[in-house]
Amino acid sequence: MKVTVVGAGAVGATCADNIARKELVEELVLVDIKEGFAEGKALDIMQTSSLLGFDTRVIGVTNDYAKTANSDVVVITSGIPRKPGMTREELIGTNARIVETVCKNLLEYSPNAIVVVISNPMDTMTYLALKSTGLPKNRIIGMGGILDSARFKTYLQKSLNCSQGDLHATVIGGHGDTTMIPLTRLATLNGTPVSNMLDADQLKQVAADTMVGGATLTKLLGTSAWYAPGAAGAALVESIIRNERKVFPCCVYLEGEYGQNDICLGVPVVIGKNGWESIIDYKLNEEEQAAFNKSADAVRNMNAVLDTLVA
Ligand code: LAC
Repeated sequence: MKVTVVGAGAVGATCADNIARKELVEELVLVDIKEGFAEGKALDIMQTSSLLGFDTRVIGVTNDYAKTANSDVVVITSGIPRKPGMTREELIGTNARIVETVCKNLLEYSPNAIVVVISNPMDTMTYLALKSTGLPKNRIIGMGGILDSARFKTYLQKSLNCSQGDLHATVIGGHGDTTMIPLTRLATLNGTPVSNMLDADQLKQVAADTMVGGATLTKLLGTSAWYAPGAAGAALVESIIRNERKVFPCCVYLEGEYGQNDICLGVPVVIGKNGWESIIDYKLNEEEQAAFNKSADAVRNMNAVLDTLVA
């Protein structure tokens, strides 16, 4: 099996590092546009192999897509990251062109690959990847909800002082500070609703912290985060490569599910060897559905910007 990660910046390199450590594939190719950068990151990761004990071969290349040929999964992290105070949406102009070109280059050599999109604004970049490649919808997956759910679980864990493994919590909707929806009603600690242990104010705070989870880090770090985004990308790749059929909230193309059409948005999906295999209906209540619809409106407005860019 073979995976390609495009973009050897902090998120791409961390994602590659996690994939290598997990020994998900025999070969991992890291691509970057900056001369020598991916080569350097790949070599650095390879030099941890005897220390960490993995046999994945990590290769770095400068824009040489021939080396990515026959990848089973490709992960796109390329584009500019957020600076403090910036929204993910402000990146659209630059990143749309990059994502479109990268998709074209990747599919030329790996026409059967499953495409994972991490570049921001993630929901719109996923939609763009789908529309520009014309690939079957199940092969295009945006990774945003896994990261947002991991952040949701971290804030729950802090409030409950519990083990992360006992928590089930999901964020659906867009991957934006105002568009994501932490489903507090459905979050559980070992099957027990967390609302039995946290009061409404505490739950509200957890949800609020989750929604600005990325912005909090951008403010602290001066650029966007990478450990959790990279690990979340690797978790998604793992479920595909190992055909785990894990349920992850991912950004996928909706055709009537959750009341939405012609949009890529975060919903719980089964992730396996064919990409996203099916959508799980969480049966949202009225309030949650209204939030989902609002999120869809915001993402749809963002998608509309794509037409003005291409023209
Ligand atoms: C974040 C970026 C990767 O949420 O979207 O940290």
